[in-house]
Amino acid sequence: MARPYPHCALCPRLWPLLIAAALIAAAAMLPACSKQREPASPASTPLQPSAIQASATTPPAADPDPVARGKYLVTVGGCNDCHTPWKLGKNGPEPDYSRLLSGHPANLKLTPPAAAADPKTGWAWAGAITNTAFHGPWGTSFTANLTPDEDSGIGIWTEKMFIDTLRSGRHWTSGRPIMPPMPWFNYAKLTDEDLKSIYAYLRTIPPVRNRVPEWMPPAKDVAKAPAGEGQTESAATTPQ
Ligand code: HEC
Repeated sequence: MARPYPHCALCPRLWPLLIAAALIAAAAMLPACSKQREPASPASTPLQPSAIQASATTPPAADPDPVARGKYLVTVGGCNDCHTPWKLGKNGPEPDYSRLLSGHPANLKLTPPAAAADPKTGWAWAGAITNTAFHGPWGTSFTANLTPDEDSGIGIWTEKMFIDTLRSGRHWTSGRPIMPPMPWFNYAKLTDEDLKSIYAYLRTIPPVRNRVPEWMPPAKDVAKAPAGEGQTESAATTPQ
């Protein structure tokens, strides 16, 4: 059997010593740990696992204005990271808020992604310069237009459709699974009130006409298509 540390001739003999030292150290910490487990006021032990869990499952008092609360949740929930196309700013890439939450720009020509998306290289996936298209083992996914545009955004979505989509992880028209890297499984844990607030906020942002391409499964995705061919929708749309 290969030794885990071939360069270290002493290692096999050191192991028992190291394990003993670790056990002694752990034993020395036990009183401290059990002391910490005693009930204490939440303020004095803010980093207790139980406290973290409590704060994750018990949201802070909601802003009475659902739109303001929704804006806050969209901001901290990182929706702009993927659904607002990025541009190169003074300090590097940043969301282009003039295209707020309008999804992958349909007119952006993409060539097949670099070898970075080949797992054999140690890299699993690649993202477009706008951070709105992602290529990986799931094919190529494009972030949805979340603006209230009725033709290319979520303008015709009801509140129920929106909540059901984020709770089920199913694309609302076809029922197919929502692809990575959309972390719907995190948002599925938001309360109904929070999801309603996000929906309420999304109704108030400027509508942008931008018909995002449909997800491409691995067999026929942009990696295999000649440059630009994956963007068949692009000619028909004018993002603003
Ligand atoms: C890490 C990137 C990422 C983040 C963060 C993200 N999304 Fe997405 N989202 C995506 C991608 C990619 C898709 C397209 C997935 C597909 O086509 O299967 C998507 C799709 C969607 C859809 C459409 C689902 C459908 O049925 O077509 C909705 C709605 C959505 N996201 C809402 C949100 C909201 C709200 C937030 C923030 C709370 C958010 N997303 C954050 C990447 C992201």
